[in-house]
Amino acid sequence: MIELRLVVNGEERRLEVDPRTTLCDLLRERLALTGTKKGCDRGECGACTVHVNGRRVLSCMTLAVMHEGDAVTTIEGIARDGSLHPVQRAFVEHDAFQCGFCTSGQIMSAIACIEEGRASDPATIREAMSGNLCRCAAYANIVAAIQAAAESR
Ligand code: FES
Ligand code: FES
Repeated sequence: MIELRLVVNGEERRLEVDPRTTLCDLLRERLALTGTKKGCDRGECGACTVHVNGRRVLSCMTLAVMHEGDAVTTIEGIARDGSLHPVQRAFVEHDAFQCGFCTSGQIMSAIACIEEGRASDPATIREAMSGNLCRCAAYANIVAAIQAAAESR
């Protein structure tokens, strides 16, 4: 076991972890942050997307122990003072989900995509979001939500 210190959604967490634990499993199984979903567990679907030090990361593809001291943000950490994040709100307003399984990963990726300046038009958004799959194929509404959130900034 290895000692690990992380700042998760603004809160310092100290844990002893098996060095083989992925960041995704640590968040879900040790910290009960189950908003981060595990779809494929091999870097193909984007359902596990979180932010590490402000950048989007596939949490199933990185070991927790590689993130000593890092700031991790999950879907549970983006609302402020009881209000949804503007991208969460845009997803609701544009009906950008069906079953919802991919949605937290889509939203974490969408926030990063807007901050990366890659939300100027639908084609750019599709390219920037290509790592996030949706089995319900809600893509048209997801793109519309991201475009609206980017335009309202
Ligand atoms: S669960 Fe990580 S990319 Fe699919
Ligand atoms: S809303 Fe069902 S997988 Fe995307």
